[in-house]
Amino acid sequence: MKTFQLLNLGSEILKKNNISSHLIDSEIILSKILNISREKLLTNQSIVNLKNITKFKSKIARRSRSEPIAYIFQTKEFMGSDFFIDQKSLIPRPETELLIEPIMKIFKNKNLFFLEIGIGSGCIMISLLNDLKHSQGVGIDVCKKTLKNCRINLKKFKLENKCKLLLKSVDELNNIKFDLVVSNPPYIMRRDIKRLSKDIKRFEPTVALDGGNDGLDVIKKVIYKSTKVLKLNGILAIEIGYGQYRAVRNLLIANNFKEKFVIKDFGNNIRCIFSTLLKK
Ligand SMILES: C[S@@+](CC[C@H](N)C(=O)[O-])C[C@H]1O[C@@H](n2cnc3c(N)ncnc32)[C@H](O)[C@@H]1O
Repeated sequence: MKTFQLLNLGSEILKKNNISSHLIDSEIILSKILNISREKLLTNQSIVNLKNITKFKSKIARRSRSEPIAYIFQTKEFMGSDFFIDQKSLIPRPETELLIEPIMKIFKNKNLFFLEIGIGSGCIMISLLNDLKHSQGVGIDVCKKTLKNCRINLKKFKLENKCKLLLKSVDELNNIKFDLVVSNPPYIMRRDIKRLSKDIKRFEPTVALDGGNDGLDVIKKVIYKSTKVLKLNGILAIEIGYGQYRAVRNLLIANNFKEKFVIKDFGNNIRCIFSTLLKK
C-alpha cells in the first residue's frame, strides 16, 4: 500500500468515529510509525511494508476510541524535548511552557533550590533543571505511578541526582525552605470534568484535573503551603485555569503575597501568576 492510500484510509476511519482532527491525526500517526517528518510524508510517496501497515491500523483503532496520540506513542514534546508519559500522567500542555521562560530568566546563573507541587511527568522540573545548571529541586505528587514516570524522565535526561521525589500531598510537606515554588495544580471545577472532550475525560488522570467544587481546592493548598516553605521574598509561580485570576489574586493577597507579573496565553487569558512572599 502507498503512503497516501494509508493516510486516506486512516483519515476515513477516524472521521467515521467522529475524530474532528482525522486528517492531521492520520498524518501524525503514519509519520511517527515511519519515523519521518509530516512534510516528508506528504511530499515523498512510498510503499509501506506489511508490518508498518499493521502497526498503523492498530494505532488508528486506538485513536478511533479517542485515545490521545501522546498516550498511543507514550511521548509528548515539551520545551523542545520529548517526555515519556502514559495514562498515569497528565499530557504536558503548551500553556504550561509559559511558566518556564520567566523562571529561567529570574534565576539565570543563580543557585536555585525549588519545589514543584504536582510534578506529574516531570516536564516542568526537568526543563528548569536542564537550563539552570546550578539548580536543585524537590518534586512532590500524590500519584505513585506518575512519580514512576517522572523517575524515567529524570533518568532519560540524566538529572536523577538533581531532584528528590516525594510521594506526598501538598499539605504534608514541612521543614524545608525554597527559593521558588512552582505548580501547575489540578484546577478544573469538578462539575465541568464531565463536559471535557472524550480524549481528556476518558484517558487523563482525574487526580490531575479535579480542582474540587470551585476548581480552587489544590490552588488554595499550594498558596497556603508556599507561605510556610518559601524563603522571605521567595517566588511562587502558579498556573491557573480560565477565569480564575480574580479569585487566585485575592487568595494571594490574603496570604501576604505581592503580585510580580502575570502571563497571558495566546487567547489573551491570564494563565500564570508570579508573586513574591512578603514579610509578615
Ligand atoms: C495538572 S497536573 C500537572 C502535572 C505536570 N506538573 C505538568 O505540568 O504537566 C497536576 C498534578 O498534581 C498532582 N496532585 C493532585 N493533587 C495533589 C496534591 N494534593 N498534592 C500534590 N500533588 C497533587 C496530580 O497527581 C498531578 O500529577
